[in-house]
Amino acid sequence: MAVVQKIPTNCKELDKILDGGFSLGELGLIYGEAETAKTTLALQCAVNCAGMGYKTLFIDCDGTFSTRRLSQIAYGNFGKIAELIILARPTDFKEQMFVVDNLTNYLTKGFGLVVIDTITSLYRVEIAEKPEKRFQLNRELNRQMAWLAQIARTQKIAVLVTSQVRSVFDEVLVNIEPVATRVLKFWADIIIAMKPTENPRIIKATVEKKQKMVQPVSCNLKIDETGLQEYPIR
Ligand SMILES: Nc1ncnc2c1ncn2[C@@H]1O[C@H](COP(=O)(O)OP(=O)(O)OP(=O)(O)O)[C@@H](O)[C@H]1O
Ligand SMILES: [Mg+2]
Repeated sequence: MAVVQKIPTNCKELDKILDGGFSLGELGLIYGEAETAKTTLALQCAVNCAGMGYKTLFIDCDGTFSTRRLSQIAYGNFGKIAELIILARPTDFKEQMFVVDNLTNYLTKGFGLVVIDTITSLYRVEIAEKPEKRFQLNRELNRQMAWLAQIARTQKIAVLVTSQVRSVFDEVLVNIEPVATRVLKFWADIIIAMKPTENPRIIKATVEKKQKMVQPVSCNLKIDETGLQEYPIR
């Protein structure tokens, strides 16, 4: 089996900007508002990783992982691909902490990718319930990101986290969301911002950070039944 160095997204233009895709050994962040195809992009990477014969641990903190969506993206190769995607479903922030802390036990030989989708959703629930604990929870989020960055480097796998940001804040989140985003951005080696456009099927992806990047570069992506593809800027 050839040694993979990159996991492509299969969006031609985005892969070009990322010099081939997400690097093994690096921590990537995909962030953006609701329904900007963050999960779809992460799923697409898991499918491509499986296509190269490597396993993915998909940590679904939102409960949105859909086998139907996976089969649409899996190019008619669902059976083989599904075998290589292992699903974990923490239901509260404590369980997420447990899964993240014990990642090295899950990651046996043959893993290429870990996805955490969405890393901030259970954290948000916890903060909404216990606002007095927000400093402690921020510290915990920071600790998880530091550990994930270390795992990516030491295990030579790609780690991909997604995070949702909201354009309109409610009272509880107004103070915490910028803090969480700062924490996530601090640890990420690769940062991609997903933004909606006037056309609900077109998402603008901006690579804000990657190795040796001078300035952010954007491309348009089209979302449909088969997943995400490039959509040339006209
Ligand atoms: N089978 C499909 N065909 C066409 N569009 C789809 C299909 N499945 C999902 N979509 C669309 O893709 C868009 C992005 O979905 P996705 O779940 O990837 O977004 P997300 O950024 O992860 O959202 P969230 O912030 O809620 O987690 C949605 O607008 C959804 O309607
Ligand atoms: Mg999602």
